[in-house]
Amino acid sequence: MSVVWTQDLAVGVKAIDEQHKEIFKRVDGLLEACRSGKGKEAVEETLDFMEDYLVRHFTAEENIQLHYAYPDYYAHKKEHEGFIRDVGALRKKFKREGTSLMMAAEMSAALVDWLVKHIKKSDMELGKFLKLSIVKH
Ligand SMILES: [Fe+2]
Ligand SMILES: [Fe+2]
Repeated sequence: MSVVWTQDLAVGVKAIDEQHKEIFKRVDGLLEACRSGKGKEAVEETLDFMEDYLVRHFTAEENIQLHYAYPDYYAHKKEHEGFIRDVGALRKKFKREGTSLMMAAEMSAALVDWLVKHIKKSDMELGKFLKLSIVKH
């Protein structure tokens, strides 16, 4: 099973959708590294690569929210921060237990579930707000 971005995840703001696609690609790369039995170091590198982009995306999204005075900014930012913490916990677990199919499955479920839920609810709401705000500006 690979992780792919699908059209139902489109929030309608091009820059955000493009970033989401990239996140899915990087999560997929991470899972692939896990599944293919690559060494710990190689998997850790892909984990860094994924996490780095994730943090950049969250910052970009939060900056857009500030720019347009998005009313749910704090709640949205809190969700992002919670997820970064969860990724940190996964990283620790991975360090303890190493790579395995189990680990890949667990990471896949945790990352993808969160991303899909967050995009479909919080990012979608942001998308609606931005479309209205951008039209008004
Ligand atoms: Fe978000
Ligand atoms: Fe997002």
